[in-house]
Amino acid sequence: MDLMDAIKGRRSIRKYKSDTVPEDALKMVMEAVKWAPSWANTQCWEVIVVKDPKVKSELSTALPKGNPALSSMTEAPLLLVLCGKKGVSGYKKGEDATVKGDWLMFDTGLAMQNLCLAAHALGLGTVIVGMFDHKKAEEILGLPQNVEVVAITPLGYPASEGFAPRRKEISEFVFYEKYGKKD
Ligand SMILES: Cc1cc2nc3c(=O)[nH]c(=O)nc-3n(C[C@H](O)[C@H](O)[C@H](O)COP(=O)(O)O)c2cc1C
Repeated sequence: MDLMDAIKGRRSIRKYKSDTVPEDALKMVMEAVKWAPSWANTQCWEVIVVKDPKVKSELSTALPKGNPALSSMTEAPLLLVLCGKKGVSGYKKGEDATVKGDWLMFDTGLAMQNLCLAAHALGLGTVIVGMFDHKKAEEILGLPQNVEVVAITPLGYPASEGFAPRRKEISEFVFYEKYGKKD
């Protein structure tokens, strides 16, 4: 698949078929995570693959009722829980390298984008789920203190197409030379 087609054609998928995800497809998706860029190549991401319907169902209770991705948490054949090791990305000799502190959210975001694009190229759907009770999810999954849950995505074959929400025009977010300068 052409890169721009993948970038523009990927949609958040919230309806899934129950068909299982082939192991080689799952491996390919993980390969895409593996090759994501990261702060000083620190690769702070970790991924928990959840197939057990009991654990999927438990995790779904961490989402608020109004989350539009709620039903997809149990509908999709598997969930990928993207975690980040704290205190690894954005540091030099144990000290903050920038005013931004931990770059964990940035690096795991890059990994998640790779994951979603690779899944899409394989005909699989994803939806990044960020609105949930992270502490509850961490308890359910037994995370150690130095690791946090960042986001979850169901993975499976789409049962219906997502629609493309409107994007800003390029001219709305690009400036030239200085902030706010439009030409
Ligand atoms: C950090 C992040 C958190 C998100 N959290 C949720 C969520 O909790 N529930 C949901 O249904 N969609 C969630 N989304 C999906 C966005 O709503 C979606 O990406 C956006 O509307 C654009 O649609 P598209 O992905 O089809 O292009 C999240 C996306 C991102 C990047």
